[in-house]
This record gives sequence, C-alpha cells and structure tokens, in this order.
Amino acid sequence: MWPLLVLLLLGTASCGSAQLIFNATKSVEYTTCNKTVIIPCYVSNIGALSLKELFVKWKYGGKYFFTYDGDKNESKAYEDFPSASIVPEALLVGIASLQLSKKDAVPGNYTCEVTELSREGETVIELKHHVVSWFSPNENILIVIFPMLAVLLFWGQFGIVTLKYSSSVTKEKTILLFVAGLALTVFIIVGAILFIPGEYSTKRASGLGLIVVPTVILILLQYSVFMIAPAIGMSSYSIAILILQMLGFVLSVVGLSLCISACSPVHGPLLITGLGVIALAELLGLVYMKFIASNQRTIQPPRKAVEEPLNAFKESKGMMNDD
Ligand SMILES: *[C@@H]1O[C@H](CO)[C@@H](O)[C@H](O)[C@H]1NC(C)=O
Ligand SMILES: *[C@@H]1O[C@H](CO)[C@@H](O)[C@H](O)[C@H]1NC(C)=O
Ligand SMILES: *[C@@H]1O[C@H](CO)[C@@H](O)[C@H](O)[C@H]1NC(C)=O
Ligand SMILES: *[C@@H]1O[C@H](CO)[C@@H](O)[C@H](O)[C@H]1NC(C)=O
Repeated sequence: MWPLLVLLLLGTASCGSAQLIFNATKSVEYTTCNKTVIIPCYVSNIGALSLKELFVKWKYGGKYFFTYDGDKNESKAYEDFPSASIVPEALLVGIASLQLSKKDAVPGNYTCEVTELSREGETVIELKHHVVSWFSPNENILIVIFPMLAVLLFWGQFGIVTLKYSSSVTKEKTILLFVAGLALTVFIIVGAILFIPGEYSTKRASGLGLIVVPTVILILLQYSVFMIAPAIGMSSYSIAILILQMLGFVLSVVGLSLCISACSPVHGPLLITGLGVIALAELLGLVYMKFIASNQRTIQPPRKAVEEPLNAFKESKGMMNDD
C-alpha cells in the first residue's frame, strides 16, 4: 500500500513540475469580414478536473489585457480589449482560445499563458490582418463602366430630343431633363470615387450605393424622353425597353444588398448583370430614338413641306377640270 502511495505522490510531483504543452499555432489571419476574431490557444496535456485549478492570462505587447480566474470563475478584460473573452467550460478540454470583436483586434503577437495548479506554460500566436479586395479588379471596372456608359447614352438621347424635337419640347422640360441628368452624372462620379478598389468598408459600400441606386433616375429619364418625342410615345417597343430597364434596376439593387450584407461579394455577378442590362436598355432606347428620328427626317418633312401643297394644288386643279 505504502509504495503505491509514494509512487502516486512522486507521480503528481513530477507532473507538477512538468510544463503544459501547447498545440503550436504560429499565426492566424483575419479580414475585414470577420465580425469576431478567435485567437487559438490549445493545451494538449490539460489534466484539470475542475475550473478551480485553472488560471488563464492573455498578453499583448508586454501587457496583460485579459485574465480568467477559475477559482472565482471570473473574467477580467482591460481597457484596450473590452470585448475579450474565453469559454470557461472549454478550458477543461484544453481550449483557452480568446475571442475578440473585430474593432478590438489589432495585428501583432499575443501570448496565451495557462496555469493548472503548479503546472504552467505559454504560447505566442501572431494575429495578422489580411487585406482582401471586396470585388475583383474586373468586377470593379464593370461596376463603374456600365453605369457611366448608361449615363453617356442618356446624354445621347438628350441630344436627340433637344436637336430633333426642339419644336415639341418646352424649355422647362429641357431644363428638367438636364438637371436630372446632371444630378445622376454627379451621383455616379462621386460614387465611383468613393468606390475606389480595396477591401470592404462603409465608405466603399456607400459609394457602391451611390452608383447603383440613382440609376432609377435613368428609367424616369428614358420614359420622359420617349414621351417627349411625339413619334415614339408608349409604343410596344418603348414599353419593352422600359420593362427591360426596370428588370436591370431590380437585379442590381438585389445584387447590391446581397453584396453589402454578405461582406464577401459572391453576388457580384448578379449586380454586374443588372448594371449591364440597364446600360443595354439605355443603348436600345438611343438606337430606337435615332432610328425613329432619322425616319422622320427623311420622310415626314418632305411630306409636310412639298406633298401637302402639291395635293392642294392637285385638288384645286381637279376641281377646275370638273368645272
Ligand atoms: C492538439 O494536438 C493533438 C495531437 O497533435 C491532437 O490530438 C488534439 O486534438 C489537438 N487539440 C486541439 C484542440 O486541436
Ligand atoms: C475569420 O473568418 C474566417 C472565415 O469565417 C475564419 O476561417 C477565420 O478563422 C477567422 N479568423 C480569425 C482570426 O478568427
Ligand atoms: C462561470 O461563469 C460563467 C459566466 O460568467 C457561467 O456561464 C458558468 O456557468 C460559470 N461556470 C461555473 C463552473 O461556475
Ligand atoms: C511576432 O513574433 C514573430 C516571431 O517572434 C516575429 O517574426 C514577428 O515580427 C512578430 N510580429 C509583430 C507584429 O511584432
């Protein structure tokens, strides 16, 4: 009996002088999309049966910023890292990983110190910030190009309306179209400036919003332009173009909200498709207007200017013949 007890005591004694062993993780990365950041700290030879035997400390830049006292079951997080926490229960299986909210996370070396009765050990984990671009370079270009193209095409339509239909468009309507078009142009340019390529940020998200949401103005403008041009009006063709444009707008707004809510833009293609459809509708509108306008120039004016007097002349001649 006695030798056994001695052996047992010796065992605990040697255990007591032993160090805690960590599953070494050199570094972990976080991106701007991580809402919380977890810095792993795994003890592979934990033996504690109760939290009371454990004490955990986390250190950054030579200063302790978090402690967990298992005896009191009490966590303390200091000023620079108010969101720091661990899961006490997980300590019993050796997990002392620290959880931080992203706003407290700073890149650098973090030290995890665990004490179990008289055994202790520490490990250093480097937290790195990994910059990931919100959209790919090609996506960035298309997101900016399509709305700008659509706006340019609108100015083309504006040109046709003011030049070809100057008689049927009032000065007020021209000014209104001009101001709305100018506002849209400014929105998209400011949006594109805010949306400079880079990782997700609220600034970039609002830039993207400024590019996408005002394209609704294009639908109103295209509708007004169709209505002003007397030969176009609400033909089935112009209605089809407007429906296509609305579809493009809905696609891009859905794409926009998915891209903003998901942080990583898996729905970029949806957004870009929507913007592309808007630009396409604008192009079709311009081509249609140009087509109608050129038809009118070649056929209608001669009819009005030459044929009508000619008919009147023929009629009067016929009447004279009858007499
Ligand atoms: C630590 O490493 C050991 C062996 O390498 C493994 O069995 C254990 O699951 C690891 N612990 C954690 C928490 O990953
Ligand atoms: C950040 O989020 C990614 C994906 O969800 C995850 O794999 C990674 O471990 C997180 N990084 C940290 C440091 O928590
Ligand atoms: C330790 O405290 C946490 C909350 O701070 C509680 O959820 C947990 O149940 C406590 N554990 C023990 C063993 O008292
Ligand atoms: C963290 O420690 C590693 C290894 O000691 C070192 O190479 C690295 O530069 C340190 N990182 C920072 C941010 O101090």
